[in-house]
Amino acid sequence: MKNIVLTGFMGTGKSSVGKVLAERLGYKFCDLDTVIMGETGLSINDIFAEHGEARFRALESRAVQRVASKQGMVIATGGGAVIDPENRRLLRASGVVVNLCAPPELILERLRSESDRPLLKDDRSLEKIEAMLHEREPFYADADIRIDTAGKKVEDVAQEILAYLHGKL
Ligand code: S3P
Repeated sequence: MKNIVLTGFMGTGKSSVGKVLAERLGYKFCDLDTVIMGETGLSINDIFAEHGEARFRALESRAVQRVASKQGMVIATGGGAVIDPENRRLLRASGVVVNLCAPPELILERLRSESDRPLLKDDRSLEKIEAMLHEREPFYADADIRIDTAGKKVEDVAQEILAYLHGKL
């Protein structure tokens, strides 16, 4: 049974869509950040603050390796998980990769009240989000399907993915 891998920038709805999708498919849901927090007993903020981004990326790669070897899972990846080529290879090999996207203005709006995004801690501006999106675009484009989530309800996005998956699992 193939996995469904959700990729995309912070605030594109990977976790909320993933939970609904998993329920509809009868698959298990797994959020990579939650796996990392469970393993370390630390929040994502604390991992970045106490050990740095490189350590976080190493933990993230380990979580990708573990989760990608399972089957029948809906996997919500962290926004930066697809930067690493080996992570991308493993995730693509494990199933169908669905990229969720949204315009930077909407991402900013969605993340405005959030305090658990260490990469935007010092600069939570539209320019910063645009620059990161631009830099990561090739990695997000490396997907089987891309879905713009702007103006859509979580259920509608899940439904769109289900329609795409029909006959592919
Ligand atoms: C990150 C995204 C976060 C989390 C970490 C780094 C990124 O996950 O993994 O803060 O590099 O974009 P979400 O996309 O679930 O917010």
